[in-house]
Amino acid sequence: MTVLDAIKGRFSVRSYTSQPVSDSDLSQILEAARFSQSAKNFQDWRFVVVRDESMKQKLVPACRNQHFVAEASVVIACCGININYVMTCGQNTYNLDVAIAMENMALVAHELNLGTCWLGAFYEDQVKTLLGIPVDGVRIVGLLAIGHPAVQAPQKNREPLETIVRYEKWL
Ligand SMILES: Cc1cc2nc3c(=O)[nH]c(=O)nc-3n(C[C@H](O)[C@H](O)[C@H](O)COP(=O)(O)O)c2cc1C
Repeated sequence: MTVLDAIKGRFSVRSYTSQPVSDSDLSQILEAARFSQSAKNFQDWRFVVVRDESMKQKLVPACRNQHFVAEASVVIACCGININYVMTCGQNTYNLDVAIAMENMALVAHELNLGTCWLGAFYEDQVKTLLGIPVDGVRIVGLLAIGHPAVQAPQKNREPLETIVRYEKWL
């Protein structure tokens, strides 16, 4: 599988079988996060790996009742630290760095025939309380659900290149 194959083939999986993600697969996925690029090599990420069934159940209401969260074998709370650092361009680093790590994890999971879904629809305060994540100095950028897909890949719906790319200048 080429990297482009993985990018094109990955899709958001919202239904999972009960088969657990193996420790070996999970460690490869976490390695993908660890080796991700980050601004100034800050590595300003921390990952809370949730496999406990009762905790995954508790996460469901904190994720606006997205029930597939409890179906997933693993849910990773992908957190940013060093949250006040702003680059010259005006962007924070932590949220970009964590996002890159999350996508790299999703791509490796896809290569391992696992499915993932990024969750942005969650109440950060509730998830922090459940997982013991500090109120200050840490932000949860996203949750990544991972498991064996119970669904087939749907058709991808993407804008054509002509719409999204401009050469040399905006107009
Ligand atoms: C920042 C972000 C937040 C997202 N939040 C959710 C979410 O809370 N629940 C969900 O089911 N999908 C969520 N998604 C998945 C997107 O809906 C999905 O990536 C998009 O529709 C494209 O579909 P694909 O992933 O199958 O290619 C999120 C994706 C991103 C990048």
